[in-house]
Amino acid sequence: MIIFKKVNDIASFLNQQKQKNNTIGFVPTMGALHEGHLSLIKKSKQNKHLTVCSIFVNPTQFNDATDFEKYPSKHEEDILLLSRVDCDVLFLPVAAEIYPSGTTLEISYPLGEMENLLEGKFRPGHFQGVCQVVDRLLSIVTPHTLYMGQKDFQQCMVVEKLLQYKYNHVELAVCPTERTTSKLAMSSRNIRLSSKGMVTATAIIQGMEHAKQTLLTLPLRTIEAELTASLLASGFSKVDYVSIADANTLLPLEKWENDSKGVVLVAAFLEGVRLIDNLLL
Ligand code: PAF
Repeated sequence: MIIFKKVNDIASFLNQQKQKNNTIGFVPTMGALHEGHLSLIKKSKQNKHLTVCSIFVNPTQFNDATDFEKYPSKHEEDILLLSRVDCDVLFLPVAAEIYPSGTTLEISYPLGEMENLLEGKFRPGHFQGVCQVVDRLLSIVTPHTLYMGQKDFQQCMVVEKLLQYKYNHVELAVCPTERTTSKLAMSSRNIRLSSKGMVTATAIIQGMEHAKQTLLTLPLRTIEAELTASLLASGFSKVDYVSIADANTLLPLEKWENDSKGVVLVAAFLEGVRLIDNLLL
């Protein structure tokens, strides 16, 4: 695996690779890699792309300074993991490479109502920050395919909007959420949970699976309220949202119909760690 830290170096290397007719698969990350990230690298490799992973903890997408400071950083372990799955290129820039003229957002990405819902509502500015960094990374890596995980369901929808807006030629491949044997969604933030917390955290997926079974028998708002109550009873300190939403717009579904395309999305705090997950219905 070749490691690049400078924009000019990676850009000219990838340019040469494109001239040799190699296609580029790109997996942007913030590091503290886990099986979820590695599954994206593996998928890109299976698709015969020259595979680029970036590790950059983007300050502009954190609305909470403590969350940014506590974001885990494990570069040596990450490099070992990436080498094991045969990642071709790692891009490991410092902030000055990504934001040479500072972090101030110069444009406002047209994300519509999506920006004010769910994650957008509880993390104001978060998705503009995500678009700012993904935009910059795409302009450097110029991939054919961008690989992202379904765990960040709303982020995938936002990035799809960014691609429609500025990178029509880039394909987005959304890959399934990787889970532990107890079905907890893999997340870099799980490192901050105690072993008891790791068990308690499975209440999210259990609650979502239960919700899926009751769609035809209970009003959707009741299902959401029951799932919220069960998370609080399990030991979660705060629930930002539980939403049964239209999978295409993320607006709350009024009623479950046989042809509904729905998704249940959850964000909740456990041991001071904010966890998110979702399940297609
Ligand atoms: O999902 C993440 O890890 C980040 O939001 C991303 C896409 C790498 C942008 O910083």
